[in-house]
Amino acid sequence: MKNEQQQIALITGSSSGIGFETSLRLARNGIYTYATMRNLGKSNEILDYARKDNLSLKVLRLDVTDDESISGVIDKIIGEKSRINILVNNAGYSLLGPLEQLHIDEIKEEFETNFFGIIKLIQSVLPIMRKQGYGRIINVSSLAGRIGFPLSSAYVSSKFALEGLVESLRYEVQPFGIHICLIEPGVIKTNFVNNMKLGKNVITSSNSNNDNSPYVEVLQKRISAFKPRFKKGSSAGEVADMVLKAVTSDIPKARYLVGEDALKMMGKRKITADEEFAKLVMNSVLGRDSP
Ligand SMILES: NC(=O)c1ccc[n+]([C@@H]2O[C@H](COP(=O)([O-])OP(=O)(O)OC[C@H]3O[C@@H](n4cnc5c(N)ncnc54)[C@H](OP(=O)(O)O)[C@@H]3O)[C@@H](O)[C@H]2O)c1
Repeated sequence: MKNEQQQIALITGSSSGIGFETSLRLARNGIYTYATMRNLGKSNEILDYARKDNLSLKVLRLDVTDDESISGVIDKIIGEKSRINILVNNAGYSLLGPLEQLHIDEIKEEFETNFFGIIKLIQSVLPIMRKQGYGRIINVSSLAGRIGFPLSSAYVSSKFALEGLVESLRYEVQPFGIHICLIEPGVIKTNFVNNMKLGKNVITSSNSNNDNSPYVEVLQKRISAFKPRFKKGSSAGEVADMVLKAVTSDIPKARYLVGEDALKMMGKRKITADEEFAKLVMNSVLGRDSP
């Protein structure tokens, strides 16, 4: 299936950042790319590139929390191309705040997007890929899928869940010629920080009304440290390159770290005891010296 025909890819969250760059990268490398997004009002820029560069790229509407939109897109692609070779699960966002102040519904929403949406997509493409005897499923996890960070327990646990899912599923699908792997970016310059959601009941220095939340100070430091860290982040293009590498390798690796920060931090994680590593994490995310 891989060598005879043009490869067909489906990507989620193509309106922005990593999904945007990855969609263009795959299309520029000869892969017919279905760049999907939940809001088609954001499709002009990617379609302009596709037209200008004569790329095989089509935009479809897909919200990963909406089962009907997932099945609609799968049916449409199968109707048009009769196959799906590559799925890139990229759509995601971060919910921020101390766990004590997050509403359970907000945490469920985080998991609907970052975890259950991915399960639905994987379950939809597996029968197709199994029949083809070929498939690549690339999942955009995070350094936060390997390491915990303060005030990010909802996001981090959704990415840890994804890591466990993929690490287990690999064994099930490999016999059918399907390879599934994880991309683990460090800090990447995208709209991620702007799209970050602060829990509705989270008490910050601006809405505290003298309510003595014990988390205000650390939260303020964490929020203030975000923008400078993201300004120094790696480019979405570096992540797109890694996705392309995973897609084109005969046997992709289980995990691909992306960015100097991610490589450095995981390097330290492997040789540092938990207590010592916790100090490095606090220094890093609260804007003191970086590890
Ligand atoms: N940037 C980083 O530092 C970083 C680091 C590690 C991992 N990641 C991961 O990389 C992935 C992409 O993030 P990014 O950095 O490119 O951020 P981004 O610029 O904010 O892009 C996020 C994308 O996900 C889409 N999305 C969110 N909820 C969705 C839903 N329910 N259905 C469909 N699409 C949805 C957004 O669509 P809208 O435009 O409609 O909001 C957008 O296209 C995420 O999984 C994130 O966790 C990012």
